[in-house]
Amino acid sequence: MITINSLNKLKQQGEKIAVLTSYDASFAKIAENAGVEVILVGDSLGMVVQGQGSTVPVTMDHMVYHTACVTRGVSKAFVIADMPFMSHASDEQALLNAARLMQEGGAQMVKLEGAAELDLIKKMTAQSIPVCGHLGLLPQSIHQLGGYHVQGKDKQDARKIFLDAEALEEAGAQLLVVECVPAELAKEISKNLKIPVIGIGAGVDVDGQVLVLYDMLGMNSDGLQPRFVKDFLAEAGSIDGAIRAYVQSVKDAAYPGREHSY
Ligand code: KIV
Repeated sequence: MITINSLNKLKQQGEKIAVLTSYDASFAKIAENAGVEVILVGDSLGMVVQGQGSTVPVTMDHMVYHTACVTRGVSKAFVIADMPFMSHASDEQALLNAARLMQEGGAQMVKLEGAAELDLIKKMTAQSIPVCGHLGLLPQSIHQLGGYHVQGKDKQDARKIFLDAEALEEAGAQLLVVECVPAELAKEISKNLKIPVIGIGAGVDVDGQVLVLYDMLGMNSDGLQPRFVKDFLAEAGSIDGAIRAYVQSVKDAAYPGREHSY
C-alpha cells in the first residue's frame, strides 16, 4: 500500500515517483501493476474523455464518478483526485466537496490549483483532508491566462511561483504538482521543499513525474502535442509495455529529456 509516508521516503532516498492520470478501473489497474505509485484522477478527463475544450466544464459529480471507478480498480496505488473548477469557491463548499472525493470516491488526497487559498488549505488539513498543491500552468484558469503557455519565464513570475510553493507547504500541502515551468525553477522548488514535488513539463530535477495517460499513449486527437509529452506506446507496442517504459524512464531520470523541457 502506497501512503504519503512511502512517497516522502522515496523523496528522501532520491528515488523518483511515477505518477500517471487514470479515469477508470481498467487503466488504473494496468498502471498500478506496471509500477505507477500515484494515480491522479485529473480533471483533464474533461478534455481526454469528455471531448471538452478545457477542464472548466468538469463538475464535482464527474470527479466523484471517475474517482470511484479508479479506486475500485486499484489495491495499493495512492489516489489523488482533482477539485474541479468552482468546487472550492467557498471554504464550506470546498470541505464538503473534498469529503465527497474521499468518502464517495475513495481518494487519499485532493488536488487544488493555485496558491490563493492558504487558509482553506489549513482548514482542510485540520479536517484530515490531505492536500496536493498545483502551481505553474493552471488549466482551470485558462480563460484568464489566454492559452496553455509556459509559466515563470521571467524573474518576477519565477519568484512568485517559488514563494507560492513555500507558502503551500507551510499551509499544510503534502505534495505539489508544478506544470509547464522552466526546469531550473522546478529544480529549485524541489530542492527547497521537504514535500515531494511532481513535475509535468518541468524538467527532470524534481521528485517525480506525472503525465496524462492518453498523451503518453499517443492518443492526441487534435495533434497539438505539448513539448513535454512523449508517446511511450510507439516504441513499446502495448499499453502495459508503454506504462512500464514510462515508469522505468521516470525512475532512471531518462524522461523527461532536454527536448521535453523548457
Ligand atoms: O488534470 C490533470 O490531469 C492534471 C495534470 C495535468 C497534472 O492536473
